[in-house]
Amino acid sequence: MQKILVARPIFPDVIDRLKQYFDVDWNNGETLSADALKARLADKDGALTMGEPIDAAVLAAAPRLRVVSNMAVGYNNFDMPAFNAANVLGTNTPDVLNETTADFGWALMMAAARRMTESEHFLRAGKWSKWSFDMFLGADIHGSTLGVIGMGRIGQAIARRARGFNMRVIYHNRSRVAPEIEAELNAEYRSKEALLKEADHVVLVLPYVPANHHTIGAAELALMKPTATLTNIARGGIVDDAALAEALRTRQIAAAGLDVFEGEPSVHPALLTVDNVVLTPHIASASEGTRRAMANLAAENLIAALGEGPRAGQPPNPINPDVMGKARS
Ligand code: DGY
Repeated sequence: MQKILVARPIFPDVIDRLKQYFDVDWNNGETLSADALKARLADKDGALTMGEPIDAAVLAAAPRLRVVSNMAVGYNNFDMPAFNAANVLGTNTPDVLNETTADFGWALMMAAARRMTESEHFLRAGKWSKWSFDMFLGADIHGSTLGVIGMGRIGQAIARRARGFNMRVIYHNRSRVAPEIEAELNAEYRSKEALLKEADHVVLVLPYVPANHHTIGAAELALMKPTATLTNIARGGIVDDAALAEALRTRQIAAAGLDVFEGEPSVHPALLTVDNVVLTPHIASASEGTRRAMANLAAENLIAALGEGPRAGQPPNPINPDVMGKARS
């Protein structure tokens, strides 16, 4: 039997499924250190990861490894040039999380705009003594302008929901989406700068690649309206969190909703000191049904890529299919 590592806790029934095909080493405990990960991968043919960094050094320590299946749509934890050089296949779990993640983007945006966690903290602290006309005035969502940066599948799912709120939709993307998608979403393309100046609510849904590092920093925040909100459900590092904390503290923008952070699970300490930000621990795709779908798709990718199961040799989501069939180097 081929050997695999499942690097983190996961649904036990997914482990049972994998055991039908593989000798499974399951780390059902604390996150593995880099050295522990290398040691556990030394004799493995495949791995199921959830964000563990896999670079040239890790691959060199795992000479039998042929596939790493990430249980996430984002795979910025994979050094893809190193995967290609070593002929190791990477896979991810797109699509199954689009709608759940879009729902959560809306929840964060609305919570930030309507100051929901800030007002809840006030209530829980026993500070609510009277109703007042100007208590926690926020920004409207309906009838406002939504700015989506990153118009991939999740960005489109977010934009589609704007219709019910009678919003204008503008977007920025590496390249314009097809005219029929623009028409369906009633979305107009803008440069990043124009979008930041015009949008009432900016939502970030772009993948993390080095070129997207600090897509939103002090200069970009300075372009936004003082009444605007910023929501990040993409990846830490796309926003300069220190600059954002300062923009929130000085009310350069009204509020933010953040599910992802630079260096998470650490959170920039300045973000913890400002009231006008809603903070959640990278849970945008965390509905029971969607996390099960992601886990099963990650298992399916691993099973098929290692030549087992009904789709043997045809994993549904190869990131670098060109390496398939090539000898490990
Ligand atoms: C994803 O799928 O990329 C989510 O952010 C979970 O990591």
